[in-house]
Amino acid sequence: MSEGEGPAPAFTPLRRAIFSLLALGFLACAPNPPPVWAPAPAGPPGKPQLRRGMNLGNALDAPTEGAWGVVLDESDFSRIHEAGFDHIRLPVRFNAHADAAPPYAIRAEFFRRVDWAVVQALKNDMAIVLDLHHYEEIMEQPEAHRARFVGIWKQIAEHYQSAPDAVVFELLNEPHDKLFAPTWNSILLDALRAVRATNPTRPVILEGVDWGSAKSLRDSLAVPKDPNLIASFHMYQPILFTHQGAPWMGPEYKTLGVRFPGPPPAPLAPVPSASAVSWVRGWFERYNREPAATNPSGPSALTEQFDMVSSFAAAHPMPIYMGEFGSVDGADIESRAAWTRATRIEAERRGFGWAYWDDGASCAVYDRKQRAWVPELKDALLK
Ligand code: BGC
Repeated sequence: MSEGEGPAPAFTPLRRAIFSLLALGFLACAPNPPPVWAPAPAGPPGKPQLRRGMNLGNALDAPTEGAWGVVLDESDFSRIHEAGFDHIRLPVRFNAHADAAPPYAIRAEFFRRVDWAVVQALKNDMAIVLDLHHYEEIMEQPEAHRARFVGIWKQIAEHYQSAPDAVVFELLNEPHDKLFAPTWNSILLDALRAVRATNPTRPVILEGVDWGSAKSLRDSLAVPKDPNLIASFHMYQPILFTHQGAPWMGPEYKTLGVRFPGPPPAPLAPVPSASAVSWVRGWFERYNREPAATNPSGPSALTEQFDMVSSFAAAHPMPIYMGEFGSVDGADIESRAAWTRATRIEAERRGFGWAYWDDGASCAVYDRKQRAWVPELKDALLK
């Protein structure tokens, strides 16, 4: 309707006053108005494929950005795009920037920083996965955090409702600890409903408990009926290889010098804190003895995981995504490259998209101090 057509709106002074109050009330209740996406970059068109991606970790998933040594820069996004990756997985600790009490308001300033990252990805023609990462409180006390988790997702969903489909949501990174499958399956459904209220068709990623393991995906994730879901798993097996010496792991992971593929040229004795644990002791016995084909640090350790995911895939016709895989910097580079290549190729052979963990943190494919890619790992991912 253009000006002059039809009756003039009956805005009596009283109505006008009510309208103004309502408008003010709306603004007051909307501390984080959604960004206007047009003419902001649209990113890749259509549903994102999420084929080859990079985790930009230890930045917005740290308690505050920079606390873990990574501050994101525009050049990170262009560099990753130019290398040949098609998406970013961005771990974000929204829970550290949201109120403890209803409506669990997420700080506008933090949203602005995430918006900036989203725009950087889209500007570089990449999709971006916003992954709620390190919500440790919900792992400890799932029911006490159900409403807050859902409230946080309600806000994220409202905030990005007009963003292109290239902005993908991932409900929770690596559910673990007391977040067992029945509780997780029910909490994720509540969060998904909150998302769907404003984002009916946006791609949403789900993973199972036990740190997003392949086994939990196959055995215990209850997949809601929804045509726009993506199933994810994380792949860090064999973990005594990928996490050797990682400071955040327990004493059984302290043996350094584990190779991929085994067996090693000379037997490797696990450190006392590792051999004190029976499964670890047994693993090292096999690692030192068995030929490559059956070695627990060999291709069969990968196939075992991927077969579980393939079983899930056979039962659930939906895209599958390996949202994290990587090996710590403490392992030798030749083994890391061999493991990364074998894992990446196996995922691609089975039609699973992936995102490497990670760009410049603990399993770095990019040396932030030298401002240079680690060529062996970059090639293992892309060549
Ligand atoms: C964690 C990282 C860790 C990686 C490998 C991620 O989900 O957030 O801190 O380095 O898994 O363990």
